[in-house]
Amino acid sequence: MLDLDPDTLLTTTRAVRKRLDFDRKVPRPLIEECLQIAFQAPNGGNMNSWRWIVIDDPALIAQAAEIYNGGLDDYIAGLAKIGGYPGAQVHRADAIGTSVAYLRENFHRCPALLLPLMQARTEGADLFNQGSSWGSIIQAVWSFMLALRARGLGSAWTTGHLVRHQDMSKLLSIPKQYTQVGLFPIAYTLGTDFKRAHRRPTTEVIGWNGMP
Ligand SMILES: Cc1cc2nc3c(=O)[nH]c(=O)nc-3n(C[C@H](O)[C@H](O)[C@H](O)COP(=O)(O)O)c2cc1C
Repeated sequence: MLDLDPDTLLTTTRAVRKRLDFDRKVPRPLIEECLQIAFQAPNGGNMNSWRWIVIDDPALIAQAAEIYNGGLDDYIAGLAKIGGYPGAQVHRADAIGTSVAYLRENFHRCPALLLPLMQARTEGADLFNQGSSWGSIIQAVWSFMLALRARGLGSAWTTGHLVRHQDMSKLLSIPKQYTQVGLFPIAYTLGTDFKRAHRRPTTEVIGWNGMP
């Protein structure tokens, strides 16, 4: 375990792409340990209606990577219709772009992938049901990422493949009542020194007793 105090763990768990060690195997018990920690996260009614697919078969990883890349291709092709990439003006957008591209090119080399599922469909659901469903899985996934970081591993939250989620459902025989949350590389990191990220100033985003 790394020697990180809670605030350091919470503020230095980054989207790791260029510093994933694609050549080092990750033992299954270590992934399971991080998942056991994730399962302690709050979830509506404690129903545990989540499911977690870990992919560590290289042939399946390669197919999942193809779906991820195809999803990003579709997303990029559709950007013109919405007036271009909405994140183009953010702090260090170019660096994020290079990093995303690097992960794309190397996704098939990930030692393992995590595909969290929630047992609910939110298409057309009211806000209560949408919030309850997503709110019952997101903390667990973040806990998983924190647990990885605490052990010298890393991940990145990715949603690119969701553009082609039906292909992933077919590949992994996922029943219709489940929603895919994202796709998470699992790998040791190259070095363990990660920094706090740039975020919008608090004055722009916090409102006391009303909108900021
Ligand atoms: C909902 C969501 C979707 C994301 N999708 C992708 C993705 O498809 N591919 C990717 O490389 N990164 C993806 N990211 C990672 C973000 O780009 C990253 O979190 C952001 O640049 C901030 O960096 P940080 O997490 O290191 O602070 C996603 C993150 C979130 C939270």
